[in-house]
Amino acid sequence: MRKKVSVVGTGNVGSALGQRIGQLDFADVVLLDTIEGMPQGKAIDMMHSHPIVGSHAKIIGTNGYEETANSDLVVIVARSKPLGTSGGPQASGGRNRLLRENLAMIKGITEQVVKHSPDCVIIVVTNPVDAMAWAVRHFTGFSKNRVMGLSGMLDTARFRAILAAELDVSVEDVSACILGEHGPNMVPITRLTRIGVVPVKELLSKDRLDEIVERTKIAAGEVVKKLKTVTPYYAPAMAIAEMAESIILDKKRILPVSAYLEGEYDMNGIFIDVPAKIGAGGVEHVYEVMLTPEEQSQLNKSAQSVREQVNLMKLK
Ligand code: LAC
Repeated sequence: MRKKVSVVGTGNVGSALGQRIGQLDFADVVLLDTIEGMPQGKAIDMMHSHPIVGSHAKIIGTNGYEETANSDLVVIVARSKPLGTSGGPQASGGRNRLLRENLAMIKGITEQVVKHSPDCVIIVVTNPVDAMAWAVRHFTGFSKNRVMGLSGMLDTARFRAILAAELDVSVEDVSACILGEHGPNMVPITRLTRIGVVPVKELLSKDRLDEIVERTKIAAGEVVKKLKTVTPYYAPAMAIAEMAESIILDKKRILPVSAYLEGEYDMNGIFIDVPAKIGAGGVEHVYEVMLTPEEQSQLNKSAQSVREQVNLMKLK
């Protein structure tokens, strides 16, 4: 019996995700959006590509939740309205405005998800994602392992891509560690970032590495500056697909995701980016890495930024 992944919101990210999952062929896909005909047309177009890529995945588009019923995984990508030039969650002011605009929408979506797929795992993409993941867990009442956010999978990919280009090495041999908020307060742990077996600090000056860290923090904004009114979608979609594949195939990969903490990193009741085991049960385990006092202090500040967003939602 093939597994089912439903994508709520089929704008650029949701569509690129649907196509990627279809091509990887590890599940059937339901594309859901409010715009009449849009998900249906995109699904037909994607299915036309499957003889070319040799995929057996079935992709359908719909404007209602009925066809999403009994999804194994639901990815919530929807947002209240397309962003202007305010950039992604990393643009100043963009995050809190998004918070207010997206929270009501998220409540409605989660009610339908619980009704139609009460046993699913949820990946939250809607920004500000750490707060939105908190809201989804709150509204669904799901156990903490069944809700995660797109965060470090994307941020570490950006960090790795920039480092690989800087050092002219394979992207496959750059491993990066980023913790904390998905946003300008993210905490790249350069001490644990390696080029093959070589610590990156042995290959780049502190100043150059600091510049690359800062560029990673504003990577979404850098894309928006070029695209004007469109936020990134290729890298986000690929990142979500990796998380989805580990869930659907129960791969138990160790991936950086926004996960709910209960004591890890001396934190409780908050979603932030941490390394986690990702399998059929969702976030099956959160791994704690030993941090220096300075790294812990930066993580505490990052977490405080997320707490302030959660407090703004007034859901407690
Ligand atoms: C980004 C969005 C997905 O960082 O948060 O591009």
